[in-house]
Amino acid sequence: MHLEPCNPPRPRPQSAAQPGAGPSREKPVSVSTAIQLISRGEAGFPAPATTCTPDLARDPWVFDALPLPDYGPGASMHDPVPPTTPRQGELPEEFRTASADDLDRRILAAKETLGESVVVLGHFYQRDEVVKYADFVGDSYQLARAATERSAAEAIVFCGVHFMAETADMLSTPEQAVILPNLAAGCSMADMADIDSVTECWDQLTALFGSEPDADGRRPVIPVTYMNSSAALKGFCGEHGGIVCTSSNAAAVLEWAFERGQRVLFFPDQHLGRNTAKAMGVPLERMPLWNPRKAWGGTDEQTLRDSRVILWHGFCSVHKRFTVAQIEKARAEHPGVRVLVHPECPMPVVDAADEAGSTDYIRKAIDAAAPGSTFAVGTEINMVNRLAAQYPQHTIFCLDPVLCPCSTMYRIHPGYLAWVLEGLVEGRVPNRITVPESVAGPARVALNRMLAVRP
Ligand code: 13P
Ligand code: SF4
Repeated sequence: MHLEPCNPPRPRPQSAAQPGAGPSREKPVSVSTAIQLISRGEAGFPAPATTCTPDLARDPWVFDALPLPDYGPGASMHDPVPPTTPRQGELPEEFRTASADDLDRRILAAKETLGESVVVLGHFYQRDEVVKYADFVGDSYQLARAATERSAAEAIVFCGVHFMAETADMLSTPEQAVILPNLAAGCSMADMADIDSVTECWDQLTALFGSEPDADGRRPVIPVTYMNSSAALKGFCGEHGGIVCTSSNAAAVLEWAFERGQRVLFFPDQHLGRNTAKAMGVPLERMPLWNPRKAWGGTDEQTLRDSRVILWHGFCSVHKRFTVAQIEKARAEHPGVRVLVHPECPMPVVDAADEAGSTDYIRKAIDAAAPGSTFAVGTEINMVNRLAAQYPQHTIFCLDPVLCPCSTMYRIHPGYLAWVLEGLVEGRVPNRITVPESVAGPARVALNRMLAVRP
């Protein structure tokens, strides 16, 4: 496994791209800093840079304090928040009012005191101001593996989103505490499928197909859940002969499922399911969409009987922002540009791109390219901006000209990180994510099936 070191080589300032503003040779700034500059209308920042909402300039605890918090400012802020989504309690004032330098000193001091007893994991989409404290940075698959490999650490501070911390809890030892610095850091796509509506769908499919295998031993339906889902749904898959996948192993996992089943029920991301199955040769007409708010999922009996992959009606609001028009513009303005997108993008975008792959796939493709290459990337802006800074020998820019981070990833702020680390120093374990064993047991079955599948 490759994991990014905590302190990647510093960029040469004059050659990295500005976030969200197309390729540029200006001094790079982090996404958060760019948002502050844009919100203040400060001179010196390239004129076309805009954010999807001025609320991005506010701190996450402003949103956490609202009686009915949404997902915070950014791409998924308008997605409905399910009532079961965890809420973050108020962050003590000393962390809300501390300067960036103060927080930096406090985080480093706490990490120094805690030593090997704590490991900080960070997803590629975390803001730079948080990633710099991570001992390992990776995609969701690598971070799940990292959680299994750091058994010496008593605490795993997970700078990512809720489903990732749940997975880390289930894969780490019972003695280890997994901590999510801000409990409100969820994933709006993961929240689009819940155990009740998936169970209801499953019962309807079982009524239609029965549960007996065919002459080749293949069951009528194999459930496959994307890693971006609750522990309860991973447990559901474990109990019903199913499996988990991530964007880096979805094809291998679907292969596994087709060997064991006549069809697959894939949740919650319709786009990852459709893009992966299409690339494996499954015709679109054999991939009906299941909308949990409609009778029979909004489809019909014959379509379900003919199906190979039943796609849940879920999507990522961040990756939904990428369009074919953006790709056409990038190609027109940058002849020879290589367009790399995440498979959570809609199918026409993936079809128009040169390649689609997980966050780590994108990173590796850029890492392996000849100097002087130009990349237009369709994934979360914090990661694209960081790649632009880390690979100054290339021109790298985000397809979306509007600065719009994942609103839930963005909720992890250094203030929360300082608060949880100092809590650990004082002997408290704040924001521990614990999955009950009744759920974790079957979920681990589905996760271990995934870990055994080679991408
Ligand atoms: P990766 O599995 O590529 O890390 O992506 C996770 C995610 O949330 C993408 O939106
Ligand atoms: Fe969820 Fe999309 Fe954010 Fe990934 S980018 S954590 S799928 S909302």
